[in-house]
Amino acid sequence: MKTLHLQLRFLIPLLLTLLVAALVALPVLDSLTLRWFARDLNNRGTLVANTLADAINEAQMDGKTWRVQGLFERALQDERLVAIALCSPSNEMLRRTDGFPPSLDCAQARDIAVQADPRLVVEGGAVHVGVHALGTPGPGVDSLVLLHDLSFIDRRSLDTRRYLIAFIVLLGFTMALITMVVAQISWRGWVNGMRGILRGEGLVRPLLAPPPELQPFASEVRARLRDLEDEYRRSLDLVSVWNPERLRSLLLTQLRGDQVIVVSNREPYLHERTDDGRVIVRRPASGLVTAVEPVMRACSGTWIAHGSGSADREAVDAHDRLPVPPGTKEYTLRRVWLTEEEERGYYNGFANEGLWPLCHVAHVRPVFRESDWEMYRHVNERFADAVAAEARSDDPVVLVQDYHFALLPAMIRERLPRATILTFWHIPWPNPESFGICPWRREIIEGLLGSTILGFHTRFHCKNFIETVDRSLEARIEHEHSTIVFRDKETLVESYPISIDWPEDTTGWVPVAACRQRVLQRLELPPDTCLAVGVDRFDYTKGILERLHAVERLLEKRPEWIGRFVFVQVAAPTRSALEEYRAFQQRIHGVADRINQRYGRLGYTPVRLLAEHHDAEALHELYRAANICVVTSLHDGMNLVSKEFVAARDDEQGVLVLSRFAGAARELSEALIVNPYHVEETADALHRAATMPAAEQRERMASLRMTVRENNVFRWAGRMLADAGRFRLRERIAARVQRHTLPDTAEDEAPVHT
Ligand code: F6P
Repeated sequence: MKTLHLQLRFLIPLLLTLLVAALVALPVLDSLTLRWFARDLNNRGTLVANTLADAINEAQMDGKTWRVQGLFERALQDERLVAIALCSPSNEMLRRTDGFPPSLDCAQARDIAVQADPRLVVEGGAVHVGVHALGTPGPGVDSLVLLHDLSFIDRRSLDTRRYLIAFIVLLGFTMALITMVVAQISWRGWVNGMRGILRGEGLVRPLLAPPPELQPFASEVRARLRDLEDEYRRSLDLVSVWNPERLRSLLLTQLRGDQVIVVSNREPYLHERTDDGRVIVRRPASGLVTAVEPVMRACSGTWIAHGSGSADREAVDAHDRLPVPPGTKEYTLRRVWLTEEEERGYYNGFANEGLWPLCHVAHVRPVFRESDWEMYRHVNERFADAVAAEARSDDPVVLVQDYHFALLPAMIRERLPRATILTFWHIPWPNPESFGICPWRREIIEGLLGSTILGFHTRFHCKNFIETVDRSLEARIEHEHSTIVFRDKETLVESYPISIDWPEDTTGWVPVAACRQRVLQRLELPPDTCLAVGVDRFDYTKGILERLHAVERLLEKRPEWIGRFVFVQVAAPTRSALEEYRAFQQRIHGVADRINQRYGRLGYTPVRLLAEHHDAEALHELYRAANICVVTSLHDGMNLVSKEFVAARDDEQGVLVLSRFAGAARELSEALIVNPYHVEETADALHRAATMPAAEQRERMASLRMTVRENNVFRWAGRMLADAGRFRLRERIAARVQRHTLPDTAEDEAPVHT
């Protein structure tokens, strides 16, 4: 339609011009043809006169004038000659043929013949009047008047007009045709060019260079397109209520049911052999597992992880797979076995003694050993092989989890160039100076840039990563769109705040009062106790020490709380193979003992340290029983304990004290935000929380609950997968374009990775 419109705009003026030209040309043409024919007839007349002159003169001289009549009759056999008359020098008409108009005399004929248009209309039509002198005039004769039929001129003129009109029409038609073809070709060129720009835009490298005439528009269009993409991403954030159904439908529509593979170090279910010989299934204390497991249940697929449980090997099939969760079997767990040496170098060594303190900047010195690095690389290779083995197609969606697998994205990319790789870094990314001390910083960054999308919890961590890349590699960074192009491949660096599976159905929940009663009973605490809880892995980044100091300071500053304020710390043992952790755990025990000695008395122990694994139900009960939940991480990617506490409080009571250095603080601003390094401030926050009126608690908790409910884990996964879906769609289109534009080479070329 647009093409037609465009062509009409060219054609209509063109055809009008031709019409005007024809209208002007026809009268001119008529007069020209008349002149040509008049000249022609004059020449013919002279010839006839010359031819007849001698015979006429002879007849005149012989007195046989009747022969003249015979000569005229013969001459009239020329169909164009209508009549002839013979004039004397005194304009007397001596003889004439039958058809000669009686009203025309010699003098009149002479007058007409010298005019520009020597035409005379007689009864039979228009005639040309010519008066021709006889070469050597005989006695009494002077000239011949020849009347030529002009109707043939009209006929010819009509024919000429017809030819001319036909010619103009044909010319117009041909020009219109040529215009249409040229317009069509150039329109297609434009359209294809623009399509190329649109396809090649954003996170996909341009496949076809835009034609030169489109170059000026290309960057403009690309900029607009990216803005639209950003708007689209933001609009996704605005759509409320993400749930498993919505995630499933996103997988079916945008990812067309493509295979989803998750890779993490920690597995979601461990099989453990107990001392009495039984095999039990345990859920590890892991924020990662808390977040990713509901997503996997929604989208099935395969989860590849280190099989670290003591009875794990007994639970798998011949391919090291088993369906999980144990009762419902919603997805496949594929276990990868590591030797002690591999685990020591890769997990304890490089991941937990190197990257963990490096990224948390928690004032524990990172340890970098060459042997650990080698093992880290080796184990990443092994997991890359496992991904390739589990992939049912050459383009699965692979979700790489965490700092254990910084090299994995690039390794998967080598094995499965068409895979869509979403890497999520669950811990903070430090500033470039801090990260700069890592001897293998380039390799780590290059490994991560094998990802299609690299996700962090906060924009702040994205910014740190991008700055680190800026200082370490030759890469093109587009700050506006948060993308990095390295070796012709583009990675989107985006923030996706992780969360929990919000409990919509609370019908089976034990009421808060009952939970409180049970917990207080179990801990042998009086009903009026102000119960504060901390729930963490026993890790030095969690600020457990600072928390204890704050509790101690509270009791010191406000002795009225002695006997009434109790702090329960659940500390799930973790990474106990590492000296740093063992020392830390001992230290915490020591500080807790000291506080208890200082402020405890018969029937009152202010600090309860529960250094053992607690299952989800036990934690849920504890959250519901507590007056305060204390999260004082020195640095934390997100911290899901804070969100679990909020989710557990459907009574809209309870106060969250939250470290400003946890990613969660950016979302949960209605918590009491503290600097855990500032003991005084944290102690005051504990007092404020303990004395907060129920109405204020309700107000804050209601708002927190709204936030966590909306920003649940399905939104976290949904946003990432929706972005992945868009990239895959682009890749499919790009591949199609490539096939159509480069038929000979398309099959051989490696597909474009976004
Ligand atoms: O906090 C980051 C994180 O990777 C969590 O996602 C996870 O719970 C934990 O660290 C890892 O702990 P572990 O070493 O016990 O698997």
